[in-house]
Amino acid sequence: MKTAALIALLAPATCWGLVGITWKFENEPTRGLKDVTFPFNMTNAPHESGFYFAQQFNFKGVPDVGYTGLQPRKDNSGGSVVHGVFSSFQKGTTSSHRNCHGGADGKPGVSCAVDINASYSPTYNLVVENTSGTSWRGTLIDASSGKKTIIGEWTLPSGALGIKSSQVGFVEFYPWNAGPHKCKNLPKTQVTFGKPTSETGGTGPGFVGDAYEYGDCKGKVGFKMTTTGEGVRVDVGF
Ligand SMILES: *[C@@H]1O[C@H](CO)[C@@H](O)[C@H](O)[C@H]1NC(C)=O
Ligand SMILES: *[C@@H]1O[C@H](CO)[C@@H](O)[C@H](O)[C@H]1NC(C)=O
Ligand SMILES: *[C@@H]1O[C@H](CO)[C@@H](O)[C@H](O)[C@H]1NC(C)=O
Repeated sequence: MKTAALIALLAPATCWGLVGITWKFENEPTRGLKDVTFPFNMTNAPHESGFYFAQQFNFKGVPDVGYTGLQPRKDNSGGSVVHGVFSSFQKGTTSSHRNCHGGADGKPGVSCAVDINASYSPTYNLVVENTSGTSWRGTLIDASSGKKTIIGEWTLPSGALGIKSSQVGFVEFYPWNAGPHKCKNLPKTQVTFGKPTSETGGTGPGFVGDAYEYGDCKGKVGFKMTTTGEGVRVDVGF
């Protein structure tokens, strides 16, 4: 299948991804998109660390991916905590934003993250937008209240243009990156990947494809996919 080849090309070698999902816009402007909004709904995800719900994106003119997404966290004394991520795996990416540091999963790049004390009920829009030149900002927006939190900002090397109009997202259980694991021990979770939107002219509508399993636990983690009005809902785990 085409998606299997895409995953082999695009998924980082160390990523114990479980589920993939393609996203795309109908058209790609010549210089790429200046913004993309990725909706995520993790209303029913347990409040424990371990899962990463992400969308990847590429820029025209440079080879390596960026990610943005959400991770559940344990509740703190104030209630639930939502962790937002915005990172670049592109060598030569720089940042001076306080939420960001050099390196991404032990590789070149920049990683930015923020924790907010917030409910899991709303859909969260993760916005990736060009701010000037080759600089990009990642913002976490509560789609029901409109409350915005900047996750971070970074600058790609010169030559980078806008965002390409398709890529894949994933559900990863990152504790498995550290060593051996049993598929039947995967905790239960649920996330909905919404259709991407953009304010860039000429992109046409955005789509998400069917979610599909991959990796060594394919067929063994209770995967279920449901198409909803909001996007594609993924259930995994026990
Ligand atoms: C978020 O997902 C939950 C569980 O699937 C669903 O009940 C809820 O309606 C979704 N929220 C929105 C805004 O679509
Ligand atoms: C989040 O909640 C924790 C625990 O109640 C508190 O210490 C922290 O200051 C809160 N963070 C913000 C940004 O309000
Ligand atoms: C980013 O914004 C600057 C203007 O501030 C513009 O020159 C540049 O072309 C934009 N890049 C993209 C990819 O839209």
